[in-house]
Amino acid sequence: MPENDDFWDFYWETRLLPMENLGKRAAILAASGLIRLLAQQSDHPLRLLELGCGEGQVIGTLLDAHFQLCAIQTSVGVDYNAQSLARCQRDYPGLRCVEGDFTDSDLLAGLGKFELVLLVNALHEVFSDSFSPELGEIDVPAAKHRVEQALAGAAGCLEPGGWLVLFDGLEPPGDPHQILRIRFRDYQVRQEFENFVEQYHPLRITYREVEGSLCVELSQRDFTRYITKSIFLGKQLWETERLQSYQYFTEEEYRAAFARQGLEIFEFHTLTMNDEKWRYRVEIDTSGFKFPDEHVLILARQVASHPPSTRLHG
Ligand SMILES: C[S@@+](CC[C@H](N)C(=O)[O-])C[C@H]1O[C@@H](n2cnc3c(N)ncnc32)[C@H](O)[C@@H]1O
Repeated sequence: MPENDDFWDFYWETRLLPMENLGKRAAILAASGLIRLLAQQSDHPLRLLELGCGEGQVIGTLLDAHFQLCAIQTSVGVDYNAQSLARCQRDYPGLRCVEGDFTDSDLLAGLGKFELVLLVNALHEVFSDSFSPELGEIDVPAAKHRVEQALAGAAGCLEPGGWLVLFDGLEPPGDPHQILRIRFRDYQVRQEFENFVEQYHPLRITYREVEGSLCVELSQRDFTRYITKSIFLGKQLWETERLQSYQYFTEEEYRAAFARQGLEIFEFHTLTMNDEKWRYRVEIDTSGFKFPDEHVLILARQVASHPPSTRLHG
């Protein structure tokens, strides 16, 4: 089997094309590089665990592509959505699919240990699940605590020296309550913003109209939600996407949480999926502000004596 980077780069470029808009291409490419590196250092096939595996696109494609390096029979996908998991099991019959809540420590304790744990677009759902009906929005401190507990659970599933790949939302740096002024390019975009404000559920979005209806002021926190989530307006996915806050931790908070769990970060990438699209729809009037990087990709290792000798992901 060809294992040089050129082959795999080409393989993934073509294989991941249909997933381009789902945002997880970067995570899969990084995990693929990691699997190839770890396999060189391991005397047995690698065991993978994905928490919140959904239909298995991430863990399934990784196992398919690296079937000689990974042990599919002892790799596991966990999800509490029975329908998604059934599809995962159908598409990747060799994979052990476990239906349940990955924030349940008893469930995790029964899974075993893994060389690689994947958390791809999963922890923001744990954050969003902490919606408080009394507050009328997410109870942010409680939600962050639940996220950290889930991260601790994931770290606990690692073999000593095992790796964790996390891909999810990123809260931009600075004061989330800082106000910025934006200008909609036309009235249709302005109307979509109105629909977003009315229908977005996890946090109350507030704004103030200035200089006519095409210009509004809102907090940095709300702006980040607007550009991340309103892309789903009018689509079937909106029904679930409108219930979730994709962002929860800033870079500083991720780094602190990983350190507390004994996870040493080797790569921390911030990225945006929306930059190009938004430039044609909304202009940021406040100087010093730009479209934020709203995604993060982290590769971390449970603290062990020997750091890897090779850089993993370009
Ligand atoms: C956005 S999907 C991502 C699926 C997959 N990781 C991927 O990228 O294709 C998030 C998944 O996490 C699952 N999920 C969220 N919180 C969960 C929890 N506490 N326990 C189990 N599954 C959870 C959801 O059911 C959903 O399938």
